[in-house]
Amino acid sequence: MLVNNQSYRTVWMQDPSVYMINQQLLPHRFEIYESKNHLQTADAIRSMIVRGAPAIGAAGAFGIAQAASEFTGKDFDNFKIHLKKAEHVLKSARPTANDLFYGVDFVMKKTFDNFDAGIAKKYAVNAANEYADWNAELCRQIGEHGNKLIKNGQNILTHCNAGALACVDFGTALSPIRIAHYNKKNIFVYVDETRPRNQGASLTAWELAQEKINHVIIADNAAGFFMKNGKIDFVIVGADRIAMNGDVANKIGTYEKAVLAKENNIPFYVAAPLSTFDAKCSSGNEIPIEERHEDEILFMSGMDENSEIKKIRIAPIESSAKNPAFDITPAKYITGIITEKGVLNPVKEEIEGFVTG
Ligand code: MRU
Repeated sequence: MLVNNQSYRTVWMQDPSVYMINQQLLPHRFEIYESKNHLQTADAIRSMIVRGAPAIGAAGAFGIAQAASEFTGKDFDNFKIHLKKAEHVLKSARPTANDLFYGVDFVMKKTFDNFDAGIAKKYAVNAANEYADWNAELCRQIGEHGNKLIKNGQNILTHCNAGALACVDFGTALSPIRIAHYNKKNIFVYVDETRPRNQGASLTAWELAQEKINHVIIADNAAGFFMKNGKIDFVIVGADRIAMNGDVANKIGTYEKAVLAKENNIPFYVAAPLSTFDAKCSSGNEIPIEERHEDEILFMSGMDENSEIKKIRIAPIESSAKNPAFDITPAKYITGIITEKGVLNPVKEEIEGFVTG
């Protein structure tokens, strides 16, 4: 992705450190966070320095590579115990996104398959880099397929941040938008602010501004207004996990946008790599939904006039809050799922043909 006209990835490794764009600070400050070991990488996932399903998948993959690097012994059994502990710590960082488990498993398998005390570390680092490169390429392919669905002159609504910041590069939902823009299509993006953490207002808007793509931020509860008034032609969102019947877990608020899109006859697309499908979930009811801290609702943070990032309370001190981070959009509201292999109908028979194991 372009940041101040320079090309960046969201997360990368220079053994033994993992580097990531610090998403807690955007859009106010652009800083790179250095994680020196797998425990810090797990913390960065938990605290959302790095966030978005494919990005935490890559961070998890790099975390296992760090854990392999940290092992100094020669004994396979001890190595296995060490890596299994790291696997548990990394996978426990966040519960909903399938890519986290996929990325960790990818590197674990390659490392165990090729174990030899002297070179295990090299295998793990190579596997994690391979995973990140592969994810960037899948997202580019999603962009190419999705671009074919976007017409010149369209107004597009997106929710949360499913951009390059949520992946290694390109994005999922933002990848077709990016490619349409590179192809000189005249498009306009409506960006849901995405309370409570405001990933739309702070991250998607920032990415679009970096690429000079025309956009406007709208309050979360304004999408219906714009749809009903004919301002939205197309909706595209990302996904954290997709069940085999086509139900989609994505950022809280996605479900209501999908229902509103159907009510207003607007196509509603989900963009995600096949690694987001979970063969073990037959329907969305089986997808675990992360419950985050109530402070994300009770407080807002932003930059004051002295350029200081501040957190302020917006609710009565006596009030508590409920904060589910994701919701499930039933397949019946989804027009199509844009993957690296093309656009799938969200029905079991078609999904099973693409997703194995
Ligand atoms: O809680 P977050 O910011 O990690 O949630 C991110 C989303 O919900 C994205 O839409 C999803 O991960 C798809 S990212 C390409």
